[in-house]
Amino acid sequence: MSIPDKTQVLIIGGGPAGLLLSQLLHLAGIDTVVLERRTRDHVLSRIRAGVLEQGTVDLLHRAGVSGRMEREGLVHSGVEIAFHGERLRIDLDDLTGGRSVTVYGQTEVTADLYAARDEMNGVVVHEAEDVTLHDVLGARPFATFRKDGQTHRIDCAFIAGCDGFHGVSRASIPETVLKTYELVYPFGWLGVLSDVPPVQEELIYAGQENGFALCSMRSLTRSRYYIQCSLEEKVDDWSDDRFWETLSGLLPGDIADRLTTGPSIEKSIAPLRSFVAEPMRHGRLFLAGDAAHIVPPTGAKGLNLAASDIHYLSQALIDHFTRSNDEGLEGYSARALARVWKAERFSWWMTTALHRFPEKGAFGARIQKAEFDYLASSRAARQSLAENYVGLPF
Ligand code: APR
Ligand code: PHB
Repeated sequence: MSIPDKTQVLIIGGGPAGLLLSQLLHLAGIDTVVLERRTRDHVLSRIRAGVLEQGTVDLLHRAGVSGRMEREGLVHSGVEIAFHGERLRIDLDDLTGGRSVTVYGQTEVTADLYAARDEMNGVVVHEAEDVTLHDVLGARPFATFRKDGQTHRIDCAFIAGCDGFHGVSRASIPETVLKTYELVYPFGWLGVLSDVPPVQEELIYAGQENGFALCSMRSLTRSRYYIQCSLEEKVDDWSDDRFWETLSGLLPGDIADRLTTGPSIEKSIAPLRSFVAEPMRHGRLFLAGDAAHIVPPTGAKGLNLAASDIHYLSQALIDHFTRSNDEGLEGYSARALARVWKAERFSWWMTTALHRFPEKGAFGARIQKAEFDYLASSRAARQSLAENYVGLPF
């Protein structure tokens, strides 16, 4: 594949945000190049969350990448919250007037996007090293990078920074311009993937005196479980037996009794963080997805937020190139951030309501119990949870 020296929209990052943008712009006749630092195998080996909002499903459909998801994804019309052994089903379907979520791994979404880009001869440059952005405040921005020992330059009209939390795009915006907001939680999640049937058909978010656990899945034969863990923990200290035993202890007794255990096929620890960078635009550079914001995984909003950013950004770029209308580009940052902050609030709330926070003491524990009791007793409270869980409109 030869590397072009110009394109209309240069996309930094070949994760789900960058690939989806590339795909949507391609369908509108807009030319893109994606620069990705890692190999494709590396990108496709990352295990991330697996719950898609209806809006994300619809967007993937519009992008022409929904075939396998429609066949293999599991549509869930409810989700369970358990607290100190008490169980409560949130009937998403009833509480949201027929909306649901689809359980389908982010890894699969990314694989489907790569397949679609290949089919359309989309240009994705892997192992692009030292990507550097230039003149983003001018009319003709460009990026330089190295590939196979050679230096390249690509000129463009716009740059989309879809390069995740550790990328170069956000780092290219001067500190005097960018305001960041951050909350780092004093714990992480230890996750295990195992080829065992899920403990029940729907997800269970469980809070207990000793911590939080989540029962999720990738298919009817592959489960994904998480437990709250201290940030000092090392994955190597967690044998499969120790993981299953700790997980059992965090679940309501009747659920724990039904748990099928087996060898893990992946085990990893992720820290929990809430983060937002404002604004999401600097001249001709537009940030989207994890490059601009991070949510803790409770509620599975990360990929869904990337999808809503890409929806707004793709529309704005299409309006620019096909209708010479720049309203969408002008309003992108404010529009995206309005939704981002609501998802930040929800992810923070769910994290706070269900995890163990020793430093919050007995008062904090009682407030958590009151949260759960309120949910159990109020349809309005359940409706608020359900509305956010299936995803606010975009
Ligand atoms: N140059 C080129 N590519 C880069 C650079 C760089 N300097 N830095 C990072 N990248 C690449 C990463 O290798 C990664 O493949 O950018 C990509 C960013 O992808 P993600 O981190 O997956 O972020 P995003 O596409 O915004 O996806 C949204 O939703 O569930 C959440 O955090 C989860 O990744 C997920 C996110
Ligand atoms: C997952 O399946 O990995 C998952 C599901 C729901 C979450 C987070 C992660 O809230």
